[in-house]
Amino acid sequence: MDTPTLWITGAGSGMGRAAALAAAEDGRPIALSGRRPEVLEEVAREIRELGGTALPVPLDVTDREAVRAAAARIAQELGPIEALVLSAGMNAPRRYWRDQDLEEFAAITDTNLLGPVSVIDAVLPGMRERGAGTIVLISSYSAWRFSPDAGAAYSASKTALGPLVATLNAQENRHGIRACHLCPGDVDSDFLDRRPTVPGAGERAVMLSPEDVGRAVAFVLTSPPHVVIDELVISPAKPAA
Ligand SMILES: NC(=O)c1ccc[n+]([C@@H]2O[C@H](COP(=O)([O-])OP(=O)(O)OC[C@H]3O[C@@H](n4cnc5c(N)ncnc54)[C@H](OP(=O)(O)O)[C@@H]3O)[C@@H](O)[C@H]2O)c1
Repeated sequence: MDTPTLWITGAGSGMGRAAALAAAEDGRPIALSGRRPEVLEEVAREIRELGGTALPVPLDVTDREAVRAAAARIAQELGPIEALVLSAGMNAPRRYWRDQDLEEFAAITDTNLLGPVSVIDAVLPGMRERGAGTIVLISSYSAWRFSPDAGAAYSASKTALGPLVATLNAQENRHGIRACHLCPGDVDSDFLDRRPTVPGAGERAVMLSPEDVGRAVAFVLTSPPHVVIDELVISPAKPAA
């Protein structure tokens, strides 16, 4: 099979799932990664119901060997990987200098920064060979504007994705590869359950939905190959003063 494949991390929930369902309409095969096999199976079922092709590939993005093995398996079973959506991410409730834990700081950095780096590193050679690739990094509004409550580790790891995207575009556009630093504001997803104070239904109702971001990802993925969307910032409408 030679249909370009889309690989999504964090695909079992939230924005990763929404991006997968939005992309299912393209008809391209989609590989779904995350640590929980059962939620990946559920998203795969939803994609198949829409007429798409999906392959759950359970994975911890901090396991570099597993990332390399997954990239090889996906290319073999679904065809060359031509698009990546990197949505796997984490934060922790203890996120201030007064209460953070260094082990947790390292886990956040491993997941949010080194995770995307190792997935990209695993697929770039194939993209270069084919002269085509689109990489969407789901970063954060806090990577675009300092957000005091996002936490030290989270802010630092997400802010680092901006230069990561810039270096990809500077060095790889010539090989047909483009990258987007996508920075959503508050999104009503399971992610918010890890905040020090978990927002209630009223606060969540005025946030973005995962589907809002899924649509934006589809826009980036389907833009013509000569279009590079370096950075895309999406935020919920500000409340009335
Ligand atoms: N919600 C917000 O307000 C907000 C705003 C801006 C940016 N973001 C970012 O958006 C991305 C998606 O978050 P979301 O809001 O859609 O929340 P979510 O539903 O909690 O999605 C996070 C996903 O990442 C996966 N994941 C976490 N650690 C992983 C690991 N080590 N290996 C593989 N997969 C891992 C989780 O699945 P498993 O647990 O099954 O592994 C989960 O599916 C994250 O990168 C987050 O930082 C969120």
